[in-house]
Amino acid sequence: MCGITGYIGEQEALPRILGGLENLEYRGYDSAGIALSDTTTGKLSVYKQSGEVDELIAACPEQRPSRCGIGHTRWSTHGPPTDENAHPHTDCTDQVAVVHNGIIENYESLRTELNEHTFTSETDTEVIPHLIEDRLATGEEPVAAVRAVSDRLEGSFAFCALIEGFPGLIAVRNDSPLVIGHAEDGTFLASAVPAFLDQTRSVTYLEDGDVAVVSDDDVTLYRGGEVIDPPTETIEWEADAAEKGGYDHYMHKEIHEQPQALRQTISGRLDISAGNVALDLSIPSEHLNSLEEIQLVACGTSYYAGLYAARLLETLADVRASVTLASEYSFNGGRDPWRTLTIAVTQSGETADTLAAIRTAAQAGARTLAVTNTLGSTVTREVDDSVFIRAGPEIGVAATKTFASQVATLALLTVYIGRRRNALSASRASTVLANLRELPGAIQQVLDTETDVEAIATEYADSDSFFFIGRDLGYPVSLEGALKLKEISYDHAEGFAAGELKHGPLALVTDRTPVLAVLSDGTRASKTQNNIKEVQARGAPVIAASSLEETTHVNEQLTVPDVGLLEPLVANVYWQLFAYHVAAHKGRPIDKPRNLAKSVTVE
Ligand code: F6R
Repeated sequence: MCGITGYIGEQEALPRILGGLENLEYRGYDSAGIALSDTTTGKLSVYKQSGEVDELIAACPEQRPSRCGIGHTRWSTHGPPTDENAHPHTDCTDQVAVVHNGIIENYESLRTELNEHTFTSETDTEVIPHLIEDRLATGEEPVAAVRAVSDRLEGSFAFCALIEGFPGLIAVRNDSPLVIGHAEDGTFLASAVPAFLDQTRSVTYLEDGDVAVVSDDDVTLYRGGEVIDPPTETIEWEADAAEKGGYDHYMHKEIHEQPQALRQTISGRLDISAGNVALDLSIPSEHLNSLEEIQLVACGTSYYAGLYAARLLETLADVRASVTLASEYSFNGGRDPWRTLTIAVTQSGETADTLAAIRTAAQAGARTLAVTNTLGSTVTREVDDSVFIRAGPEIGVAATKTFASQVATLALLTVYIGRRRNALSASRASTVLANLRELPGAIQQVLDTETDVEAIATEYADSDSFFFIGRDLGYPVSLEGALKLKEISYDHAEGFAAGELKHGPLALVTDRTPVLAVLSDGTRASKTQNNIKEVQARGAPVIAASSLEETTHVNEQLTVPDVGLLEPLVANVYWQLFAYHVAAHKGRPIDKPRNLAKSVTVE
């Protein structure tokens, strides 16, 4: 949700910042802009406009004598996506430029206080350069001015300031991510690692309250009022993991990366013969034994992964499991909150709603755990334990491979917990783990049928509406299938528990509403088959992803290989391909669906 970039070093800043913006565009594409500090005069020049980064690149000069600058790609919160609201925002003297991610909650009162300044946008961001301007006017040094201003801001934000005459970037993190990249010929600053992954894998994650001053040859990090040595980490992702690699869209590439992503997810974690899972968790077995409830909190696709996991936990680990949309969560953990484990499922680790929920749980006294894809993300700093899904970078706004890796990770966690609670026998655990080992191959088999799925998607692309149905583990996959289709094709799609159709939605079923059904292990398929007959009797074409030996009353059948309780997850890959090809047929901007952004850092 909004991407910030910055660069200072020996090389031309312009191409590095624009390159970073291209890499971060998945975070927002309502407008884009940059500010550069002139190498000789120190004066700032700003280029910004509504629209995508490509359009900004076309509007920028090919070269600028600058080795220091900042950039921004926007997902609008305050003010529509206009040229004026594009970042960077400047002060009245054009000597301070700021890019910002997040929300300044007290911006209205600050704006009132700044009534002698001329504002040119409707954004909350613009108060920052004007506040800095006032402090600089008193003779305060730039770093002190920025630190003082950040103390006055309320909300969750990260921003980076470029100030005329100051040889560097000043950045502040408070609840929104920022990371520094240390390259041989310069230093990068960004909201997320993919911005500069092609330049360096050596990084420093900023923590809440940190102020970083990045100059030509040095990084000064203020933490808790002290200057500390910036702790560095090495990112294991390969640079090309964040590139399209010959596919037209990141989403398509990421759908095809699922076998590899899943191999990484399970690598070194399975002991099939003993029916055990190796996870680096600090929760003592006695604690797991005494748990009364596991609460999963998440949003969107991650919520559906949570729904899948809750069913696995109840079936295999004999523990009550609830799933709550993070934005709807309030803690209800019985008399002894410590007997509750709250799990945040979040690909980015930065989703504001999920962070708020996990904080609520922690404050109430629950033990907390994060299942996430992002090392160093905010959620990992706030929970008692983290389990990484290891899916590699996901750039497409619609989550695909991370859903598969989340469910696989949660299945590992289920076995881990089930074994420690003595609720799961070694042989049953071995079966689930063997299914996990076979999962990448099963998904590859589905991917190999892509031309068939494309033909089906093209045939039904112009339908009025699409209904996805399934029971038990097939239900979350139906919700996810519908979400994927509506996100990227803009078609109306709904996911239903198959048994619910007759309680109302059946009224919408016609011969122009294809019904996509999951029939496999863990989905009470024989009952769903009755629901299929009901919709077919009303003329609806039925597309089934099925692992049954015999599937009747369907117009199209897609075969799901046998992997036990993970079969619905394999069926989901058919729904991903279906959504992708419907959207491609309609020429939709698949990686950048309108109104959406990858990481939702506002509540
Ligand atoms: C849909 C999608 C979103 C995210 C949701 C949570 O394709 O990607 O629904 O799943 O915004 O994001 P994370 O998992 O980063 O918390």
